[in-house]
Order: sequence, then structure tokens, then C-alpha cells
Amino acid sequence: MKKILCFNSKGGVGKTTIAKELAMLWRRADQRVLCIDLDGQRNLSRHFLQDEIDNVESGVEVLFDRKVDIAKVKQSIYATCYSNIDILPATDALAQKGAEIAQVPGGQVFLKRALQSCGFDESYDICIIDVPPTLIGMFLFNALAACDFVLIPMELSQNSMDGLLDTMEILHEVQDILNPDLQILGILINKYSAATTVANTTIAQQLAEAGYNDLIFKSRIRQATVVVQAENARASVVEDVSGSNVASDLVLFFAELRSRIEENGK
Ligand SMILES: Nc1ncnc2c1ncn2[C@@H]1O[C@H](COP(=O)(O)OP(=O)(O)O)[C@@H](O)[C@H]1O
Ligand SMILES: [Mg+2]
Repeated sequence: MKKILCFNSKGGVGKTTIAKELAMLWRRADQRVLCIDLDGQRNLSRHFLQDEIDNVESGVEVLFDRKVDIAKVKQSIYATCYSNIDILPATDALAQKGAEIAQVPGGQVFLKRALQSCGFDESYDICIIDVPPTLIGMFLFNALAACDFVLIPMELSQNSMDGLLDTMEILHEVQDILNPDLQILGILINKYSAATTVANTTIAQQLAEAGYNDLIFKSRIRQATVVVQAENARASVVEDVSGSNVASDLVLFFAELRSRIEENGK
């Protein structure tokens, strides 16, 4: 099971949106997907479980027990309304868990350990992890320690550029200490608009100066109201608005992402 994290310290750049659409794209490629929602806002969980989210009794917090109870973990995995996509949803119990594991030696590798011991390789091909917008925190560190690959969505804005620099710094620190096998798949420009020419040129220059040109995916996801409409309807762009330009962007990006994963040899 390949574990992929959508990460950028900034909020609003499209982490959850991209995570959701990637789950749909992998499912369409006949891959079995497990989503892990580590964001207390529960946006990914709400999307996939819809009104069922109110009936969730336990969720992703069970991965952070001191002694992993595999039966309990399996009970906390929910089938979604899409075949081949299951989710360990975020719950209200998550915040308390975060405080608990911060007090425990090794608290940053609980997720890694739990995923290893649950035998998910048999059941899933892909694991997509969504985290809150932050630079620090036990759930972010756990996600970074556990994942194989990181994908960084960003916007061509100064705020997002500043967030990217912080994000890359953290990623390099993680590669030095916590997870030397972590591979940075690349930077995905989301919410692209050809109309904002000045910002596009300025940020493109800054990305080049920072040496990130090779990391940027050629496919960009354009800014489109259908994305927000799909979010409000708890729908997916690739599944439900398949004729749109942004759906085509996502399909092209997905092909590029898969080839980068293959190149990385995992
Ligand atoms: N390409 C896009 N075009 C238009 N709106 C987008 C696009 N990508 C994301 N959004 C919207 O931007 C908002 C923030 O996206 P979200 O995925 O929740 O970001 P994050 O998880 O990084 O905080 C959401 O309302 C989402 O629908
Ligand atoms: Mg989010």
C-alpha cells in the first residue's frame, strides 16, 4: 500500500480537494483506496460519508492508541458511497488523542506503527492522508513519519509561496531525521488563473530562484467554480462534472503523478 500525504502548511490551497479527487481517480483505475482524515475539520470525512458522519462512533483516533487494537481499527473503517474507497474518519476524539500522544515517547510514529501492524497491504493499494493546515503538531508529524510520498498543492500567490518555503523546510527536516525514505513527489499549482498575470510571473520567478522548477507538475489545476459547487454538493469533479476543463486538468495531473510514483520505484 502506497501512502500519500497532501501537505502544505497553508490552508485553502486545495489539500482536501486534491485528496478527494485523487481517491476518485485511483478508484477509477481499479485501485483500492483507504483515506485517512487527520483534520479535525473533518472535510474529507464529511465528503465521503455525507450524513452518515453523524453515526460514526470511532474513527481515526484508534490508530493512536498505545497498544493498537486491530479489531477496533477495522471496526473504525467505513465504507463510503463509492466502491473501492474506505475511510478512517476524523472524529471529535481526535483533539484529545493529540494531547495524549504528545506526552508519550515515540508519539510521532504511532500512525506508522499502526499502519504496519494492521496488515493493510492485503486490503488496499493506496492510502491518502489529509492533514490540517499547520507546520507543527502530532498529527502532521505522524503523517510525515508514516507516508511514502508527499504531494504539495499550492496557489500562485505570495501567501502560498511563503507557506511553500516553510513546508519545504519541514519536509527536509523530516527527511533528515524522522523519515529518510520520504519522497517529495512535487508541487501542484492549484486554482490557476491565466488572468492574474503579474502574480503568476512573480511567483514563477520565486519558484525558479528557489530551485523548485523540476518539482512543479506540468499539469496545473485551474480555478473553477465547479470545484466549489462540487464541494457544496459533496460531489466529485472527476466523477460528477466529468466534461469540465478542471476534470481534464485533474486527469492529466493524475497521469503525471502516477508516472512520478513509478519513477520513484515504489
Ligand atoms: N481548483 C479550484 N478552483 C476553485 N476552487 C477550489 C479549487 N481547489 C480548491 N478550491 C476550493 O478552495 C477551498 C479550499 O480548498 P480545500 O481543499 O479545503 O483546501 P485545504 O484543504 O488546503 O484547506 C474549498 O472551498 C475548495 O472547494
Ligand atoms: Mg483541508
